[in-house]
Amino acid sequence: MNFTEAKIRCENLRKIIEQHNRSYYVDANPAISDFEYDLLVKELEVIEKEFPELQTADSPTQRIGNDVNNEFVQVRHKYPMLSLGNTYSENDLNDFDQRVKKIAGNNFEYVCELKFDGISISLTYKNGILQQAVTRGDGEKGDDVTANIRTIRNIPLKIYGSYPEEFEIRGEIFMPHSSFERLNSERLKAGEPQFANPRNATAGTIKLQNSTQVAKRGLDCFLYYMLGSSLPHANHYDNLQEAKKWGFPVSQNIRKCETLRQVIEYINYWNEARKKLPYDTDGVVIKINSLEQQEELGVTAKSPRWAIAYKFKAEQAVTELLSVDFQVGRTGAITPVANLKPVQLAGTTVKRASLHNQEQINILDIRIGDMVIVEKGGEIIPKIVGVDKSQRTCNSKKFEYITHCPECGTKLEREESEAKHFCPNENGCHPQIIGKIEHFISRKAMAIDGLGIETIELLYKHGLINNVADLYSLKKSQLLPLERIAEKSAENIIKSIEESKNVEFKRVLFATGIRFVGETTAKKIVEKLNSIDRIMSASQDELLQIDEIGERIAQSIIKYFANAKNREIIQRLRDAGLQMEAKENVEKISDRLKGMSFVVSGTFNSYSRDELKQIIEKHGGKNVSAISASTAYLLAGEKSGQMKTDKAHMLKVKIIDENQFNELINNEL
Ligand code: IVH
Repeated sequence: MNFTEAKIRCENLRKIIEQHNRSYYVDANPAISDFEYDLLVKELEVIEKEFPELQTADSPTQRIGNDVNNEFVQVRHKYPMLSLGNTYSENDLNDFDQRVKKIAGNNFEYVCELKFDGISISLTYKNGILQQAVTRGDGEKGDDVTANIRTIRNIPLKIYGSYPEEFEIRGEIFMPHSSFERLNSERLKAGEPQFANPRNATAGTIKLQNSTQVAKRGLDCFLYYMLGSSLPHANHYDNLQEAKKWGFPVSQNIRKCETLRQVIEYINYWNEARKKLPYDTDGVVIKINSLEQQEELGVTAKSPRWAIAYKFKAEQAVTELLSVDFQVGRTGAITPVANLKPVQLAGTTVKRASLHNQEQINILDIRIGDMVIVEKGGEIIPKIVGVDKSQRTCNSKKFEYITHCPECGTKLEREESEAKHFCPNENGCHPQIIGKIEHFISRKAMAIDGLGIETIELLYKHGLINNVADLYSLKKSQLLPLERIAEKSAENIIKSIEESKNVEFKRVLFATGIRFVGETTAKKIVEKLNSIDRIMSASQDELLQIDEIGERIAQSIIKYFANAKNREIIQRLRDAGLQMEAKENVEKISDRLKGMSFVVSGTFNSYSRDELKQIIEKHGGKNVSAISASTAYLLAGEKSGQMKTDKAHMLKVKIIDENQFNELINNEL
């Protein structure tokens, strides 16, 4: 095939494929089988590979994603993305109707739509081609997630018909039930945490860094709002019908209503009918149809006055509470879980429900044998929201909460500010030990994929590992005698443990499993404090300076490093060769302070404490939080702690001020 032939075939293939996309996704009337469809895409891919200059941004091959690691760029919305006011009753709707009538008079039309439960997105089209897809973000600015959005098969990369030169169309990205169940069962098999609901799964998927992964997750979309200076019609409903003709997925379940009564009928109908839809909806959105009247009604700071959301009530069922189990998480948190007589709720059989904590049980006065009201909220397991006390037998007893860990028998603790009880035996309680190691090896942490939960249990059972640092002392010869571990898998385990030594520091920090330090928090911490030494020596005030770190997280970090056992584990991980500083941030100036450790205390004239710590590291020195005999200097500013000064005197650690420090790095001391 020469270039001209390839060009013609490419253009034809693209047209044919997009037509099939429309038949499949927009008209729900596929004309060819999936296999035939895949063959067409494959053919296009082959040609584009041979003639890369024929690749275009709107080619259907772009939907398979790419392996480029997207760091999302923030984009300012041309029109802010507002949210909607919520209503829960007919009365609220009546008030809304009255407010509208005051401004728009009696002559207006409502449009009722389903409220899809997903993530809102704003798509920009220029000359019929998808240019940009941006998340809601804070309403003013959002993330550019175009590469990920391109992989959603019913979002047209190119539209057909007579459309405005430039416009935005907004809608909801969601995960249908079938994709959600498939994804969660894959995650369960891979030992990864499951998503609590399709909405969370959608949010997680849209923010994935690799669009090939997004393409595999089976996201879907409905568009419900068009914006621009030259829209085809003067009302919302006709604009959406027009968008459908151009190739956009627009829901069929949109209705125009002339009266509030008709709106309420629509709500009542969908309150039941939604249970049969293959995706989640959480309400109905009611909008004024005329764009002129929309403008007249205007917007408040957060939401338009021309639209409102009516939220469906969560589905409930009543069943018997058989018993209560207590689960111990990797951080030692105790969660009471109810075992229920199986009952049907929102299309699934419910056997277990969350009870949250002791206070919740007390407030609701839940007792074994009670008929309890279960509700499906946003969480993976339903929750108990009440008790039908009229059905309670006279011999029922008040529920006694446990006082000791069900796993290791240690007395439970509960901090004043915390709702949950904790087992403090973090390094000796089975589910905590296993949970911590499991978290450590997980994909987003150290990604030690040669190991799985069963192997971890096996190694623990045989006394080979008790904490994450033990992983790095494992030898092939210790693994071979174990059941189910053959030569090849033993080699894989050792190899993947070895490879984890290259994992970057921010992931090592996340892997340590400090309570409340998730992936993003770890990243933020490392951006500011680029080594484990600086984090360990940081004061609460310093931690609080970091974006998104509040008191709860700061205290948790301090508490973690105050524990000698945790410090020992960190030291062993460091000795094993794990990355304990962010390489890219440490720009070395000299080795003048090599082998010297510093405690920085107080306030200084020319630098902040943080800057001084950076300078120490740039000259090869180390920052530590507490003075010991091996500390080289106490760098003391104004209001330096008296205890630190006393300890420095006692241990004969040199105390220097800012000027002496400057001389030191200039090599004059
Ligand atoms: S209209 C200015 N229509 O609900 C009004 N929103 O709670 C723009 N949503 O942020 C929104 N289905 O993410 C509209 N049919 C629908 C919707 C819908 C779901 C979401 C959307 C919005 C949120 C407001």
